Amino acid sequence: MMARATQTNEPGRCALLVPVLAALPQPVALIEVGASAGLCLYPDKYTYRYGEHLLGDGDLVLDCDLVGIQPPSRRPEVVWRAGLDLSPLDVRDPGDLAWLDALVCPEHAERRERLHRAAAIVAADPRHLVRGDLAEELSSLIAQAPVEATLVVFHRSVLYQVPSDRRAAFVDFIRRLDRVRWVAIEGPDVLPYVDLPPPPDDTVLNVLALDEVPLAWTRGHGQALVWFGPDVTAGSGGDAAM
Ligand SMILES: C[S@@+](CC[C@H](N)C(=O)[O-])C[C@H]1O[C@@H](n2cnc3c(N)ncnc32)[C@H](O)[C@@H]1O
Repeated sequence: MMARATQTNEPGRCALLVPVLAALPQPVALIEVGASAGLCLYPDKYTYRYGEHLLGDGDLVLDCDLVGIQPPSRRPEVVWRAGLDLSPLDVRDPGDLAWLDALVCPEHAERRERLHRAAAIVAADPRHLVRGDLAEELSSLIAQAPVEATLVVFHRSVLYQVPSDRRAAFVDFIRRLDRVRWVAIEGPDVLPYVDLPPPPDDTVLNVLALDEVPLAWTRGHGQALVWFGPDVTAGSGGDAAM
């Protein structure tokens, strides 16, 4: 505990990303800032159950209650992925995996099983995680992304850990990027949204936003998504090369 930081990595959160990622022009290239071990960089590898609607046929099934939009009809096609973290973890390292396991509450057996299944999927696939601060290292990762794919920078439950001046520098930087789509899932007070509708209940919820447009309330580990914004998920999203 003296040597490590709190950096819970929850693959269930991919169920919140998929409705937005699948609606963008395909294929996509993903950069996650604050990626921890990168388990959320693999939304194309997991299976999703949105109510009665099953997407995929793998053995790691992520359940999510979807309110206000139709379930996505496809998973995103990911052609490139990279992550950035102050302290990236490697799921192939038994010490790092044990730390991720220790960050799951003892009674959350389902989350622990999900963590280990996702870690096995990630360990089998080459990954590109770099160490660095999100306000400083992002531009070099962007320069490596393939130009023929829709480039998506995303983060979830990260900016609350970033001091306000660094957070402002990151927001300022990302606003000036022209070829990037920006997906944020953060607490309602972390980014400067105005006129958010009241949350559906009094639990702690995050806001899903695309390019600074708030779209939905989301539950912490990806269990539920309540849509309130414009339906950016309608339509297929088309082809990134067009
Ligand atoms: C709560 S974890 C969330 C991990 C992952 N996004 C998820 O949702 O499963 C926050 C992560 O952000 C990273 N982080 C915090 N401040 C950062 C910064 N300034 N630059 C890069 N990563 C940072 C931490 O190291 C940690 O891995």
